[in-house]
Amino acid sequence: MRGKWLGPPDPPGRRPDRASYFPLIPATIRPTTTVMEKPFRKDLSHRNWAQVYQRQALRADLLDDWIGALGLGAGDRVIEIGAGPGYFSLALAERVGPKGMVYAVDRSADALAELERRQRARGIAQIERIVADASALDPAAVKARAALLTMVLHHADDPAGILASVARLLPPGGLAVIGEFHPDGPCAVGPSRAHRLAPAEVESWCERAGLARVAYKRQTPEHYMIAVRRDG
Ligand SMILES: C[S@@+](CC[C@H](N)C(=O)[O-])C[C@H]1O[C@@H](n2cnc3c(N)ncnc32)[C@H](O)[C@@H]1O
Repeated sequence: MRGKWLGPPDPPGRRPDRASYFPLIPATIRPTTTVMEKPFRKDLSHRNWAQVYQRQALRADLLDDWIGALGLGAGDRVIEIGAGPGYFSLALAERVGPKGMVYAVDRSADALAELERRQRARGIAQIERIVADASALDPAAVKARAALLTMVLHHADDPAGILASVARLLPPGGLAVIGEFHPDGPCAVGPSRAHRLAPAEVESWCERAGLARVAYKRQTPEHYMIAVRRDG
């Protein structure tokens, strides 16, 4: 793991100015005076999967950090937990190329059907879609050295169980990246503060699962990521 983001957790009381609340949203569609988010629902029933895909695309700028922390390149095998309609699975597939493999896991068959449609349209073969509860995933069903879990744990009924499952499927030394919304963020996008997970809580679940923290980064005022390595 390399780079300047191996720093300490956020400085206390960090409050960015309003303009920087929306760094990933084009200026033309940024809210100006009021926040326009629909009320958050853990099961995502307030949105259809095409809308979720569009919202994934607004977070595209976060991807380079995730891929960099996982060290992914051509021919790699990676699992995306809670892939949803698959914006990031498709990007991962491009990164690992036709000789690599992306396992896209989601509990929603409809979300993965949306991914399948886009996958076929682009002619991408190296994504295997798996409908499953990630906390009960059969480790024998996947062979991956890296895992990506972004904006999933705050939707999950058993986030600690999902991390334990990731630890079971990764080989010793395998890496995982967890991305979440920060409870200290402005909450202009994403879930309300009450539904956000503090980095310390996520880290404690990781530790219990045998996933040791190797890096942390506050990617934007709203988003943070934690990189962990499976104990060897
Ligand atoms: C907001 S989407 C995030 C999608 C994508 N990871 C991203 O960063 O945009 C959360 C996804 O997690 C899935 N999910 C939540 N709990 C899950 C579980 N226990 N097993 C598998 N998928 C789960 C939901 O179905 C949903 O598709």
